[in-house]
Amino acid sequence: MNPLKIVILTGAGISAESGLSTFRAQNGLWEGHNVDDVATYEGYQRDPLAVHSFYNMLRKKLHDPSVQPNSAHYALAELESKLGSENVTIITQNVDNLHEKAGSKNIIHMHGELLKTRDEQTGEVFYCDEDIDYQKNHNIRPHIVWFGEIPLYMDEIYDHLMNADYFISIGTSGHVYPAAGFVQIANQAGAKTVELNLEPSLKQSEFQVTIYGPASKIVPEFIKRFE
Ligand code: APR
Repeated sequence: MNPLKIVILTGAGISAESGLSTFRAQNGLWEGHNVDDVATYEGYQRDPLAVHSFYNMLRKKLHDPSVQPNSAHYALAELESKLGSENVTIITQNVDNLHEKAGSKNIIHMHGELLKTRDEQTGEVFYCDEDIDYQKNHNIRPHIVWFGEIPLYMDEIYDHLMNADYFISIGTSGHVYPAAGFVQIANQAGAKTVELNLEPSLKQSEFQVTIYGPASKIVPEFIKRFE
C-alpha cells in the first residue's frame, strides 16, 4: 500500500503560543501599523525606511530566546521524520522560522520568509538574519509576499494538493486567498480535510473534520493517529 500523503497548511495561529502575534487578533501584528503602509508594494515605495524598520523589528523578534517552537510545531516535525519528507509537506503562510527550528524539512513558505531578502533587480534571494540597511543598498527588499503580490511556489503547492490523502489546516483564519481556497481543491482531489484551530475559521463548513482548541494541545493529539 502506498503511504499516506499528508499536506499541512499552517497560519499565524500555530505560532501564537510561541509568542508571535497573529494578524487579526486584537494585539495583532498590524496594530499600530496600517496594512497598506507595511504590507503593500505601494507602501514600500512611499516609505522604504519605515517598512524596513518594521520587518527589521519582526526579524529581531525571531532571535528573542523566548520565541521557540511549541508542541504543535514539534508534532509536525516528528510526523515528517516518521513518515518521510516525501509524504509530509508543510505549506506555511508564516514568515517565521519555527517549523525549521522544530526540525521540519519539507516546508513551503508561500508568503516568503523574514530571514531572507531579495534583490529587486536580479530576483536573487539571500539569507539574512540581521537588520537590512536600505541606505547601503536600495535594491534589497524583504522576501515577503505583500498584498497584491502572487504567493510563491503555487505550481508546486497545487501538485501537492491534487495528490493529498489528508489536508490539515492549522491556525489560519481563512481570510486570505489563495490559501483560503486550498480546502476546496483538496476536497475535490478526494482528500480528507481537517481544520485544527482555536475557533471556527471562515472556511469551517468546507472541512470534513473540525477540532477547536489551542494548537499546542489539539495538534499533537490529532497527529497521534498517524503513529
Ligand atoms: N491555536 C490555534 N489557533 C489559534 C491560536 C492557537 N493558540 N491562536 C489563534 N489561533 C487562530 C485564530 O483563531 C485565527 O483563526 O489562528 C488564526 C489566525 O488567523 P490570522 O491572524 O488571520 O492569520 P493567518 O490566517 O495566518 O493570516 C493569513 O494574512 O495578513 C496576511 O500574509 C498574512 O500570512 C498572513 C495571512
